[in-house]
Amino acid sequence: MKEITLPKASQLTSPNPVTVVCTQKPDGSTNLATVSWWTYLSYNPNMIAYAMAKTSYSGEMVRSNKKVILTIPGTQIAEAVLGCGMTTGRDTDKAAKFGIELIPVEGSSIQIPAHSRVAIVCSLKEYHETGDHYLYICDVEKVYGDEEEEALFAWNGYRKIAPAKQGE
Ligand SMILES: Cc1cc2nc3c(=O)[nH]c(=O)nc-3n(C[C@H](O)[C@H](O)[C@H](O)COP(=O)(O)O)c2cc1C
Repeated sequence: MKEITLPKASQLTSPNPVTVVCTQKPDGSTNLATVSWWTYLSYNPNMIAYAMAKTSYSGEMVRSNKKVILTIPGTQIAEAVLGCGMTTGRDTDKAAKFGIELIPVEGSSIQIPAHSRVAIVCSLKEYHETGDHYLYICDVEKVYGDEEEEALFAWNGYRKIAPAKQGE
């Protein structure tokens, strides 16, 4: 083996997971951001975590209102999910810009993409500074799933979003 950088390692571990982090903006609308760095943490109690750059607008939103829904997007919105990963919601309505249909989630004021395989409704428990990111540790309140939707993954250093079997 030869020594490599951590970003290079993340290419070698492709396909990497893809979530769409859904948060609520001050005007009540939903912001969508593409996030690979997430993980299950605990089943008892149910907990997950994800990491976002300190500069992300989504981070600002969840630190302020403590609410977030992580979704695993379906194949029909692959291009749009790439767009959500290259635009900030600070001054853009990403759902409108990328043509993502949103649906309500019972008991939450945050909406999610209609084409989602999984939705994990969370409240922020705590967050920690981790280098240039914050790590958000969340309690899971509800989980929804739709087996008909095929999950997306990030390929080639996050440059391509495709199902696991079609990534290469
Ligand atoms: C495939 C893919 C994966 C990404 N994963 C992450 C991630 O794990 N953490 C992160 O902070 N940004 C990640 N990004 C970049 C964010 O989605 C991007 O910075 C986005 O503009 C943030 O939006 P916001 O400012 O509305 O929160 C990823 C982008 C793509 C395309």
